[in-house]
Amino acid sequence: MIDTFSFTPFPQIFFGEGEFKKLAARLSKKCRKALIVCGGKSLQESGLLTSFKNELSNSQIEHRVVNINSEPSPETIDKIVNDARTFAADTVIAVGGGSVLDAGKAIAAMLPLKDSIIHYLEGIGDKNHPGSTLPFIAVPTTSGTGSEATKNAVITLVGEEGFKKSLRHDNFIPNIAVIDPQLMLTCPEDLTAACGLDTITQLLESYVSIKANPISDALALSALQKVFTSFPVAVNHGNNDLNARADMAYGALISGITLANAGLGVVHGFASSIGGFFDIPHGVVCGSLLPIATETNIKKLSESSDQKHKTLLEKHIKVARLFPATTTLSDVQALQFMIDQFHQWIEMFSIPRFNHYGVTEKDIERIIKTTGIKNNPVPLNSDDLKFILLNRI
Ligand SMILES: [Fe+2]
Repeated sequence: MIDTFSFTPFPQIFFGEGEFKKLAARLSKKCRKALIVCGGKSLQESGLLTSFKNELSNSQIEHRVVNINSEPSPETIDKIVNDARTFAADTVIAVGGGSVLDAGKAIAAMLPLKDSIIHYLEGIGDKNHPGSTLPFIAVPTTSGTGSEATKNAVITLVGEEGFKKSLRHDNFIPNIAVIDPQLMLTCPEDLTAACGLDTITQLLESYVSIKANPISDALALSALQKVFTSFPVAVNHGNNDLNARADMAYGALISGITLANAGLGVVHGFASSIGGFFDIPHGVVCGSLLPIATETNIKKLSESSDQKHKTLLEKHIKVARLFPATTTLSDVQALQFMIDQFHQWIEMFSIPRFNHYGVTEKDIERIIKTTGIKNNPVPLNSDDLKFILLNRI
């Protein structure tokens, strides 16, 4: 029997080569003043920002540009929101990677309010956000976090008292997501690898989450099939293989939808805690932990006699069978093939270990204390968590 579930809506999606060029014309009747949120130099250097601004002008849309150069902090959001008030934008358009999309989403949600974002962050704020937001359009230029389809913006404060917390409301799901794989052709190799591994982790973790439902399952499997084939191609030939870029962009979009509806597992639990204490890119944390966390989950599920765990182990087998090379293998061999493939990818694409960012064995305890794993397919104790972390320090 199918268990009770609910499903949050999607943004309106425009997917495909050349869709970004059509955006300004699409907005011509709905938008008069657009605040464009974008990253550092790459959008400017490629000429894409200039073209987009020209297209907006041609559609009689006044615009102002603000830049986001790192994962957004409460201070960054507050400053941009305060500076942007006088412009009185009626729409926010974010064009960039996951941090830029999260920043744009937060700015759109904070412009209608008067006080600091810090009051509304999940787990630390003292107020509930009323859900008022400007229309928000997400245009990803990397394939990673899936922020173009989620209802939360991740806000980061790095340091001793650091955190990664979400500004979350059903109303924050972008109104429009424009997924144009052409925008991803210039994404560098290391970023493509880290973001791609984040996408793979999000798809796998939401598929084997204890909160998964039949719709998130169908979507996650369809995307995993594409990304398993296209991930290494996108990293190695990303500047000219539009098919691989399109598959990864599809995977990232779907991972946003599935994570918003099914939740995530231990890797993202760690991403939240480690990412608050240390300045480590989200995709690097996820990529780094994906192989050993998957291996640990599979081992624990295999040892359990619980029927729910058997079902979740079968779901892992189903994912492993998406690799064509597993057709002639036994279930156990297929699972091992998938684990080995994950390990091989992080070696092949030089995903750094955590000591590269200053994490030491002394930090393990405080990291574990702040790591949440409520949707992981199997309970893990502090020794399991320590084992996973030690493997990547
Ligand atoms: Fe992620």
